[in-house]
Amino acid sequence: MLTVSLMATSCYYDEMPAEPVTPIPETVSYSKDIQPLWDTDCISCHKTGATSPDLTAANSYLALTKNNKYVIPGDAASSSLHKSLVGDGAAIMPTAGKWSDSKIALVDKWINAGALNN
Ligand code: HEC
Repeated sequence: MLTVSLMATSCYYDEMPAEPVTPIPETVSYSKDIQPLWDTDCISCHKTGATSPDLTAANSYLALTKNNKYVIPGDAASSSLHKSLVGDGAAIMPTAGKWSDSKIALVDKWINAGALNN
């Protein structure tokens, strides 16, 4: 009985790892904090010549900010990038499943601080 419950417990933890909380620095850097998120979770689909926006390091900043198309500096809530991350009126991104709140908050902080190319 004890063995069974221990096994059940380990299965539970295998299936539900605690979601890591992404640290949010005082000043969010586009190149150091944001681009690596695109590299890990987005560029398999959002690469050059494929689905817009192009999120590869060479093109992502311009692709996101040009004409405020995906990012409106200072206004994360109105930015379509934010809407895609929370699935508000847009297909949820990444398609595999919604990010942790802390990762979305990191992107929102970058947008609200002016969406700098820093
Ligand atoms: C498995 C492929 C795939 C992955 C991975 C993926 N996307 Fe997408 N994304 C798509 C497709 C396909 C569309 C366009 C069609 C649609 O609306 O479903 C899209 C559309 C978008 C749009 C545009 C929505 C609009 O209003 O035009 C944004 C912004 C976006 N993705 C951001 C991201 C971000 C950020 C990531 C990583 C966190 C990501 N995507 C990961 C496939 C993907």
